[in-house]
Amino acid sequence: MCGIIGYIGGKNCVPILIEGLKRLEYRGYDSAGVGLIENNTPVVIKKKGRVAELENKISKLKIDSSVGIAHTRWATHGEPNEVNAHPHVNKDSTIFLVHNGIIENFNELRTDLQNKGFEFRSETDSEVLVQLIDFFMGKDVSLFDAVRYAMNMVKGTYGIAIASTHVPEKIIVARKGSPLVIGLGNGENFIASDVNAIISYTSSIVYLDDGEIACVQKDSFEVKNIDDELIEKEIQQVKISIDSISKGNYAHFMLKEIMEQPVSVKNSFRGRLLFEEGSSKLGGLQGFETRIANSNRILICACGTSWHAGLVAEYMIEQYAGIPVEVEYASEFRYRNPIITADDTCIFISQSGETADTLAAMKEAKRRGALVLGVCNVVGSSIARESHAGVYIHAGPEIGVASTKAFTSQLVVLALITILIARTKHLSLVDGQNILRELDKIPSKIQQILDNHAKIEKIAEEFIDSKNFLYLGRGYNFPVALEGALKLKEISYIHAEGYPAAEMKHGPIALIDKNMPAVFISPVDSVYEKVLSNIEEVKARKGRIIAIATEDDNYIDKIVDYVIKVPNTIRMLMPILTVIPLQLLAYHIAVKKGLNVDQPRNLAKSVTVE
Ligand code: G6P
Repeated sequence: MCGIIGYIGGKNCVPILIEGLKRLEYRGYDSAGVGLIENNTPVVIKKKGRVAELENKISKLKIDSSVGIAHTRWATHGEPNEVNAHPHVNKDSTIFLVHNGIIENFNELRTDLQNKGFEFRSETDSEVLVQLIDFFMGKDVSLFDAVRYAMNMVKGTYGIAIASTHVPEKIIVARKGSPLVIGLGNGENFIASDVNAIISYTSSIVYLDDGEIACVQKDSFEVKNIDDELIEKEIQQVKISIDSISKGNYAHFMLKEIMEQPVSVKNSFRGRLLFEEGSSKLGGLQGFETRIANSNRILICACGTSWHAGLVAEYMIEQYAGIPVEVEYASEFRYRNPIITADDTCIFISQSGETADTLAAMKEAKRRGALVLGVCNVVGSSIARESHAGVYIHAGPEIGVASTKAFTSQLVVLALITILIARTKHLSLVDGQNILRELDKIPSKIQQILDNHAKIEKIAEEFIDSKNFLYLGRGYNFPVALEGALKLKEISYIHAEGYPAAEMKHGPIALIDKNMPAVFISPVDSVYEKVLSNIEEVKARKGRIIAIATEDDNYIDKIVDYVIKVPNTIRMLMPILTVIPLQLLAYHIAVKKGLNVDQPRNLAKSVTVE
């Protein structure tokens, strides 16, 4: 969950590390720190709170250092304060370490080290790593080998970077379960937990795999496995534009990402629509089409917003491809004894491609012989690399912690996968072509909704003092109700629940009174009449109703308090439209409450611990 960046080269690394930390702040933002070597003297500076506060503290010190590592933290063990912030150091501050992940056996290791006379300062699990490395270095072992030996002893997950005044010309990094990359420059090299942090300096990237350890110097790097065997690594050219990771003229990344959706959605299907064949072209699934289409069952696993996209896909795939689908929380899947066979296809959806539970669930399904597919946004991420096949959603970097454009792009890609499978089964050419034509029109329809932005902002004004919200939808729009409620919870801290509209009678109806807003996602479709009855039930109990309705529905204006219209499309694609007003509603309520929508309290963009 935390962010890591490091530099070794000829420049003063302080501004590079601070800029990198700012780009990584979405991964954790409760404290931050840097460890530098200045004239062979260790300098460790930490600060509770945002990176800007650390920057303030450092700027007064006028440090000039050409080797350093830095970290922005999302606390797991130990409260967010300066002592628990990274880097952690050994007793004489000659070795410093930053860590992303969780060391599960830290208690045991700490006791053992304490018995050997090592003193611990923090409450973190991470500190044990630096003490362990110090212990091995005391036995006259090189820093590289000390890290390797420590890796052999720890259980859990880690992405780590270590620097030491004993070997100031090297940074050592290692990975197991938490991402780490090396960025190659000219007479300088970078390390980071996320390419975004270093992309303004280099696009030549080496992705470390689990169990690998690297020694990075200013003009070379060497990767080995835990058994000290050399590993030949591929250098990849990563294309990410700086604009895509900057806020531009927007007040928040979240707003920028909501507004980008006409383009991001188009990018998700660009070059993938085969109009003549009424099908889709997904290079990443080439060769696997028949196996997927012949699956006994499709299992979809994900977390958070990605799980909601999976729920929509269940409706899509069952309706058009006729294959039974189950959707599971990755965290639940991995800890039961799932019945998976080689005839199953498992789809793992993850914006970041790094969510620990989703990654672990994928490994489990793979172990059990299923075909595992990744649907990811981040190119080169762990899920993308470890799946048998997959499709990138191409939404572009998503920085706002609350996912928006990734969700709509996931829905596009899941629709494309559905069409691909369905065309090998019962979907006719004409029906396939019709879906593609509708998909092609989605970007301009999203734009139409975004153009109505001011009206949604006005509605938001009315609800800033609400304490609870209900979101109700049916069929394809039930997952949208869940997603709308999640968006509101995440950024406005208002309690919100999503429910299938008809289930309301089995409990939530008891909550309805004049203070309870209910958002109905009620486009004119096959369950429209039924949803209208649910609306009447809320109305009869004086609930305040906001309806997300289709543009040709004039009736609904008469029965609800607020209506936000969306253009019409086919049922399977409707969630791509109906979710947009809900993103904007949540955004404006949170902004009007004065909250930090890009970095909501307690959340992290990418949950790389379980
Ligand atoms: C975190 C984020 C959510 C995201 C979820 C799954 O909780 O705050 O926005 O939906 O993780 O992330 P993934 O990267 O796997 O889609």
